[in-house]
Amino acid sequence: MRSWFSFLLLSLTTIVGVTNATTEYTGTTCNPLNKTCDADPALGTEHTWLFNSTLDSDLWDMRTGTLDYTSEGADFIIKTENASTLLVSNFYIFFGVMEAHVKMAKGAGIVSSVILQSDDLDEIDWEWVGYNTSGVQSDFFGKGNTTTSDRGGYHAVANADTEFHNYTSYWDRDRMEWWIDGDLVRTVNYSEPLTVYGKNYPQTPCQVKVSNWPVGVKGQSQGNLEWGGGLVDWDDVPFTMTVSKIRVQDFSTGKEYKYNGTTGTYGSIEVVSGNSTAVTVINKKPEKTLAQKWADLGNGAHIGVYVGAAVAGALMIAGFGFWCMKQRRSGRLQRALNDDEHTAELTTLEQSKLRWRQSELRSKGSYQPVP
Ligand SMILES: *[C@@H]1O[C@H](CO)[C@@H](O)[C@H](O)[C@H]1NC(C)=O
Ligand SMILES: *[C@@H]1O[C@H](CO)[C@@H](O)[C@H](O)[C@H]1NC(C)=O
Ligand SMILES: *[C@@H]1O[C@H](CO)[C@@H](O)[C@H](O)[C@H]1NC(C)=O
Ligand SMILES: *[C@@H]1O[C@H](CO)[C@@H](O)[C@H](O)[C@H]1NC(C)=O
Ligand SMILES: *[C@@H]1O[C@H](CO)[C@@H](O)[C@H](O)[C@H]1NC(C)=O
Ligand SMILES: *[C@@H]1O[C@H](CO)[C@@H](O)[C@H](O)[C@H]1NC(C)=O
Ligand SMILES: *[C@@H]1O[C@H](CO)[C@@H](O)[C@H](O)[C@H]1NC(C)=O
Ligand SMILES: *[C@@H]1O[C@H](CO)[C@@H](O)[C@H](O)[C@H]1NC(C)=O
Ligand SMILES: *[C@@H]1O[C@H](CO)[C@@H](O)[C@H](O)[C@H]1NC(C)=O
Repeated sequence: MRSWFSFLLLSLTTIVGVTNATTEYTGTTCNPLNKTCDADPALGTEHTWLFNSTLDSDLWDMRTGTLDYTSEGADFIIKTENASTLLVSNFYIFFGVMEAHVKMAKGAGIVSSVILQSDDLDEIDWEWVGYNTSGVQSDFFGKGNTTTSDRGGYHAVANADTEFHNYTSYWDRDRMEWWIDGDLVRTVNYSEPLTVYGKNYPQTPCQVKVSNWPVGVKGQSQGNLEWGGGLVDWDDVPFTMTVSKIRVQDFSTGKEYKYNGTTGTYGSIEVVSGNSTAVTVINKKPEKTLAQKWADLGNGAHIGVYVGAAVAGALMIAGFGFWCMKQRRSGRLQRALNDDEHTAELTTLEQSKLRWRQSELRSKGSYQPVP
């Protein structure tokens, strides 16, 4: 009887454990310069994720859309009108390196992006506008400041839509660097006019965000439409961006990162020591199958289970059914809540950029439609 019970407990714990790990990680949008927020779970190590097999959902959260896996990587596909995709890491890095191997999505009005972004809206970007398959833009933001439009960098890349290239951002407290296929294409120092002498230099713990989204939709401002290369031609769906792998290195080690006060400076970030959940997840051994757990129990236990099963079976079925119903109900509620949050977040992410684009375009006005 005892064995039967612990066996059940074991498998139940496994199921419940997975659920808890996921909910724990569901971050809310909270700007720590305005209010007290939960600490940011650290990556605290270096790891390369191959995107050709399912990403661990404890570490990566597909906020909108779905990923389509192929042998070469994960496709971020805009399949229907106005759809978008957004993948967000559940972990944060406090300075570090992000190396993304990407094929951009081609198509007027479509934007592919791979960015680092913090809770107080520091940001380090790679962005590809879908009408130009021979270039990528570098950019950065500090504390969500979008008042000026002079930070974008423009870099040539051959066949950015049909070939993977290595886009690497290096970020420490002294400087940011953007590298393409091993070549340094841009450096921004901590203290220069562009960063408002450090004040708007990205310096708080960042998540990795990967997105393929349409800017060229009806109702969009003229400036933003021009930046993206005009309206999306929805007869041309699908629009596909592919990521083959991403390497992320956290220069800090610890369990999590906390904002102390509201300055948003790196000096105000407290590194809480300990092992990060990310490290634990990355190092975890593959789960034992149910059959292996059963075999591990031994013969005596097996007999106990057979006897106990007859008695407990009916009770269990009733109880489990009830538990499932509860889970389903709370799952649905959680999903509904998440959908709202995620829509809000994507909108914020896009809006903040689009505000900036407008001023950028006013000052540049260099858009050339592509035939
Ligand atoms: C704080 O919140 C207010 C109201 O939501 C907003 O207007 C303001 O921009 C926020 N400040 C920061 C630093 O996020
Ligand atoms: C994923 O890519 C790696 C490296 O290219 C390769 O070794 C591995 O077999 C691929 N896995 C799948 C499932 O295609
Ligand atoms: C594409 O981007 C590259 C790099 O910024 C630039 O040199 C090229 O002129 C752009 N092409 C078009 C068609 O805008
Ligand atoms: C925002 O940036 C502009 C220039 O880029 C700067 O003049 C201004 O002081 C910044 N605002 C804040 C709140 O840092
Ligand atoms: C990608 O570029 C970075 C920066 O140059 C480099 O450190 C890294 O080794 C490159 N990755 C591959 C797979 O070549
Ligand atoms: C950045 O700093 C390096 C030395 O640390 C210097 O050589 C370079 O000129 C600086 N760049 C800018 C734009 O200030
Ligand atoms: C797509 O978005 C545009 C602009 O908001 C809207 O006018 C259009 O009806 C939307 N289309 C669909 C299919 O939702
Ligand atoms: C938070 O910052 C204050 C000074 O601004 C400092 O005295 C205090 O020790 C810091 N707390 C932690 C936990 O780092
Ligand atoms: C971190 O992990 C190591 C190795 O797994 C372990 O020895 C150590 O006790 C852990 N530290 C904490 C604070 O949990």
